[in-house]
Amino acid sequence: HELAPNVPFEDIGWLLLNGDLPTPEQSESLRARLAAEHALPDRVLEALRLFPADAAPNDVLRTGVSMLGAFDPDLNDHSHAANLEKSLRLVARVSTLVTSGWRIARGAAPVTPDGRMTHSARFLYCLTGRQPENWQAHAMDVVFALYAEHDFNASTFAARVTASTMADIYAAITSALGTLKGPLHGGANEQAMAMLRQIPDPDAGEVWIKERLARKEKVMGFGHRVYKSGDSRVPVMRALARDLGRRTGHEMWAEVCERLEEVMRREKGLIANVDLYAAPVLQMLGIPWQLNTPVFACSRVAGWCAHVIEQHDHNRLI
Ligand code: ACO
Repeated sequence: HELAPNVPFEDIGWLLLNGDLPTPEQSESLRARLAAEHALPDRVLEALRLFPADAAPNDVLRTGVSMLGAFDPDLNDHSHAANLEKSLRLVARVSTLVTSGWRIARGAAPVTPDGRMTHSARFLYCLTGRQPENWQAHAMDVVFALYAEHDFNASTFAARVTASTMADIYAAITSALGTLKGPLHGGANEQAMAMLRQIPDPDAGEVWIKERLARKEKVMGFGHRVYKSGDSRVPVMRALARDLGRRTGHEMWAEVCERLEEVMRREKGLIANVDLYAAPVLQMLGIPWQLNTPVFACSRVAGWCAHVIEQHDHNRLI
């Protein structure tokens, strides 16, 4: 709650990888470093053109990360220092794989960002080709902060198992990406958007949920393996959804989500998880719903890398 609304994603990444928030100079140099590492090797960019136009962006990303490993000169050096370097490349390039992959699939050329942009502004610019407003870049920072790390969730566990065989960090992140895709984990934020697109207002939401529960179907964006009384990320994401709603004239999304929360609590005792409110937030930032889970990955890669480094530094096979 202290960090998400106030600290840029670069600083969150530094905190995860180094253990402390950066000084202003360290923050500045990390920003420059991520900007410098942003470009993909030419042959990886070429490979993005080989995918069918309707390939799932999650699959393009997973394959792209796997391929990037082959171009990293430090691939098989699992020392702390080498893993840190590779982590910075991964944090920078996962975003590029998502934005360039999306543009290429739509017949558009990748765009080259201005080196002075923040990571979040660059993500939006490279996706849309337009310079984002400050409030949009800030909202992106909040989303990235909330998704950056979440302890021993399914994808992180997959990354750590892979790392624990002393496989390289790209192998571990590829495992994590395969695991994130599923709708019970990261894929839920795409499914939540599919649900919200069918619900025009809060009353319709109440009916929609009750019908779904009567058929004993799952409602994406609800429930959590660990949180039983509330997902700590939801209050910040809910406030962001309300704020973006006011700015973009789409206040209805947050109102619908709030009613869904009310009904799920009453009917099933289930809480909303972060993916429920992330779905409309990303929509209001102009991000296509097919990229909701890849956006999650653009951020969580920082947390995954921190876990892989910790695993390699003190390894024991899982
Ligand atoms: N909608 C409807 N019912 C649900 C939901 C849901 N979203 N989640 C749990 N339940 C029900 C189950 O059907 C079960 O009911 P029953 O006892 O009558 O059989 C009961 O609640 C317990 O459910 P479990 O699946 O045992 O709970 P578990 O802790 O194993 O599952 C999970 C957690 C997988 C996240 C689950 O809540 C779910 O599938 N949610 C939807 C997917 C989702 O939103 N995932 C994102 C998680 S957060 C993240 O990855 C960022």
